[in-house]
Amino acid sequence: MNKFNKQPIGVFDTGVGGLTIFKEIRKKFPFENIIYFGDNAHCPYGNKSKFKIINLTKSIVQFLIKERCKIIIVACNTATASSIEYLRQNYEIPFIGMEPAIKPAALNTISGNIGILATKGTFDGELYNSTREKYTNNVNVHISIGEGLVELVESGKMNSQSSIKLLKKYISPMLSKNIDTLVLGCTHYPILKEQIKKITGNKVKLIDSTKAIAERLLSIIPNPETKTKGTDIFYVSGEVKKFKKIGEMIIEHSIKNISKTKLEVK
Ligand code: DGL
Repeated sequence: MNKFNKQPIGVFDTGVGGLTIFKEIRKKFPFENIIYFGDNAHCPYGNKSKFKIINLTKSIVQFLIKERCKIIIVACNTATASSIEYLRQNYEIPFIGMEPAIKPAALNTISGNIGILATKGTFDGELYNSTREKYTNNVNVHISIGEGLVELVESGKMNSQSSIKLLKKYISPMLSKNIDTLVLGCTHYPILKEQIKKITGNKVKLIDSTKAIAERLLSIIPNPETKTKGTDIFYVSGEVKKFKKIGEMIIEHSIKNISKTKLEVK
């Protein structure tokens, strides 16, 4: 790929979750232009069928291709689980997908027990199951579906009683199995890291794939030798105001260039 290629990097998720990935990419690639798409009109994807998710991601990908993106980061574990194979087969543009960080968790554990928190869609996916099979032969894996957590993050209720209650419900059974490593297998969950830490304490290491994705991107597109700062453009398919408010908290930066765009889903 051309070093000076100013075509944007496309990043998408079902809402604000992928901003955890956006933030890391922006840090590593100050000179790249980035377009972020948050499909908050159809959020959450967690319980949607594979067919429905493929249709939604197809529309987002077509939109990002029209915007001249040169690579697309599927910054959503659930969307990756259902559609990455389809997208790779049907579009020429390169994709980077997300998957729960099972391998580093399996390598890190001393107790031999790891926990994974993700959506139903992610656990149902082939990617999760083949990775689990490959790396967890000598490790006990304890899983929990984080039903409802994405919605709470999307409405900015990270510190609410409901969030704490749900997190305790999902994490406590894993703690009773002596996990020392917890994989945050959804890009929305690192936004709840502080709340999760209060439940797990310091003895449990939290692992997510945020940094690994930025590293992967670096291996595909090296930073261009230009001094021009990259631009950020945000699109959402649903509510703008809420996305902007919560998004600014996540990326710790103001979101200026944002607009609503209707997603053409067939
Ligand atoms: N951020 C998405 C993920 O990584 C959330 C999925 C959803 O919308 O349920 O899985």
